[in-house]
Amino acid sequence: MKKAFYLTTAIDYANGSPHLGHAYEKILADVIIRTKKLNGMPTHFVTGLDEHGQKVQQGADKEGILPKERCDRIAQEFKNLLVTLNISNDDYIRTTEPRHKNVVSSLLQDLFNRGEIYQAEYKGFYSTRAEQFLQEKDKVNGKWPEIYGDVTEITESNYFFKLSKYQDWLIKFLEESDDFIVPSFRKNQVIEFLREPLNDLCISRPKERLAWGIPLPFDKNYVTYVWFDALVNYVTAAGYGNEEFKDLWPADLHVIGKDILAPPHAVYWPIMLKASNLPLPKQILAHGWWMSSGEKMSKSTGEVVDPLSLVEQRGVDAFRYFVMREMTVGQDADFSLERFESRYKTDLGNDLGNLVSRLFHMTATYEKGVVPKVELNEEFEQKIKTNFEAAKEKALEHFNAFQFNQGLEQIFIFIRSINKYADERTPWKLAKSDLSEDRQKLKTCLGVMVESLRLAIQMIAPVMPGVHEKVNQLFGLPACENWKTALEWDFRLEGKTLGEKIILFPRD
Ligand code: ME8
Ligand code: MG
Repeated sequence: MKKAFYLTTAIDYANGSPHLGHAYEKILADVIIRTKKLNGMPTHFVTGLDEHGQKVQQGADKEGILPKERCDRIAQEFKNLLVTLNISNDDYIRTTEPRHKNVVSSLLQDLFNRGEIYQAEYKGFYSTRAEQFLQEKDKVNGKWPEIYGDVTEITESNYFFKLSKYQDWLIKFLEESDDFIVPSFRKNQVIEFLREPLNDLCISRPKERLAWGIPLPFDKNYVTYVWFDALVNYVTAAGYGNEEFKDLWPADLHVIGKDILAPPHAVYWPIMLKASNLPLPKQILAHGWWMSSGEKMSKSTGEVVDPLSLVEQRGVDAFRYFVMREMTVGQDADFSLERFESRYKTDLGNDLGNLVSRLFHMTATYEKGVVPKVELNEEFEQKIKTNFEAAKEKALEHFNAFQFNQGLEQIFIFIRSINKYADERTPWKLAKSDLSEDRQKLKTCLGVMVESLRLAIQMIAPVMPGVHEKVNQLFGLPACENWKTALEWDFRLEGKTLGEKIILFPRD
């Protein structure tokens, strides 16, 4: 059996409600996985929740509930979002699950046995009020901010993972790899980061200070949390320790945000795998941030309009289209309600929505809903076929390179050209004529438009699966499973009776 294309996203921190950044990443990953499927690949798609750590515990304490109760509630919110966004994940992993704790334990024990983890003294500035270690960079104007209360230098015994030992290996690996990190300019940032000597990674906290973590198998007085816990989810979900592991691991793609590339995913993770004698993932895709007035959007931004409420107002496909159309993968994008409304009205309403409603209306009125036979092949028709072939080639190429905004642009250029073809052929005028030549032109025009729309609808499937399904249903087609067979210009709908006209993107 061919190995499945294994794709993961970051597992979201169970520290608040989902926001646009979380939604975007899951949509991006979903569009990638749907594209792979349409290209005929078997796939496996995992996302999940990162549940341990200080802030989660503090959040629960504040509410007077157990951390697990709080996580269960937040997990439900994130899972609901996946359903709302039409995300096609195969698995949802939570770091509090036994399957995960067992894998973390077993990896830690193995590394400890082989001397990759050792115990040492850790010295640092500790805030009792915030219950956390601080760094020089947390100082404001050379002083610890009031929120930290008393800050004292303390020494604590902890466990460390030998990162530094692998620094040279990692630099060499990164320098020699062409596409481990996408976009490639981020690889240079990682290599830049590695110019400074790496410190070994502190992977533990004494249990009396942080209970909400995974106990170290070799010392029950400590827990591990944050990266040694969270990153391991990728191998847990692949079934580490079981038969199926070799069918999934190594991951083909980790989709994450740029804030967690270096050091976590591009430094800690490859070294953790290397030290554990496990193969490295094939590729990491680091996307940019959604910004709001120049600031990273997060749960604390307090937007006037919650972008996620747009899903309710305008439908999930419009929302998926917008985020994929507006963001150049890897770069930041500003979220703007005006942009959203403009894309909704123009691309979706005027271009796609209008095409669908006028075409189904005309076919019903002039041809009793039956797709007519294409009889002519004049310059008009040849041009639109050429437009399709060009859009197909470019769109698929952009999609494969994760440049979804450019791929969509090509598809919408084609969609606009279908409308233009109608405006030039004027089927509504031809329908009034008694000349048999005009009848022929009318039939050809409708037949060509149906074929063109069918093909456009196959190409938007990964981004707008709902619209794809709805229009395919009107065509009497099942949802598309493979582009190889679907993207042929072959008038396969000739003689078929179409469903009734629908409004895809209603105006208020
Ligand atoms: O980092 N725009 O969780 P998280 C785009 N638990 N993406 C954004 C964003 C924004 N404004 N804000 C956040 C964590 N993200 C860890 C990950 S993985 C083993 C552990 C992205 O909830 C962010 O970059 O803070 C990350 O990829 C994801 O949302 C989850 O962020
Ligand atoms: Mg974060």
